[in-house]
Amino acid sequence: MKLLASTAELSEGGFKTKTLDGLEIIVGKADGRYFAIQDLCPHAYVNISYGHIEGCAITCPWHGFTYDVHSGECVSWAGTDGLNRFPIEVKDGDIYMLEKQD
Ligand code: FES
Repeated sequence: MKLLASTAELSEGGFKTKTLDGLEIIVGKADGRYFAIQDLCPHAYVNISYGHIEGCAITCPWHGFTYDVHSGECVSWAGTDGLNRFPIEVKDGDIYMLEKQD
C-alpha cells in the first residue's frame, strides 16, 4: 500500500499528480468518490492531467477524448482504449494505492 494523497488535499472535481515507482499517477475526487488513474491518455500517450474534470469525466486537452475516471472507459469514442486505473483504499483520511490485480 502506497500513500497517494490526503483526502483533505482533494476537493470535489479536484486532482493532483504524483509519481510512484516511475509511474505518473492522477489521484482525485469525482462525484464524491476518489480515484487513481495513470496520467496518460491512451490515444496518443500524453499527460491527461492538463485536461479538466466535469462530473466523472476527464477530457484530454489534445484531441478532446473524454474518459470516465472511475471505469476508465472512453465515453466519447466507442472502442477506444481506456485509462489505466489503480485500486485504492481510503483509510484514516489518506488515500493509498493498492497492488494492482491482473
Ligand atoms: S492524446 Fe488525448 S485525445 Fe488525443
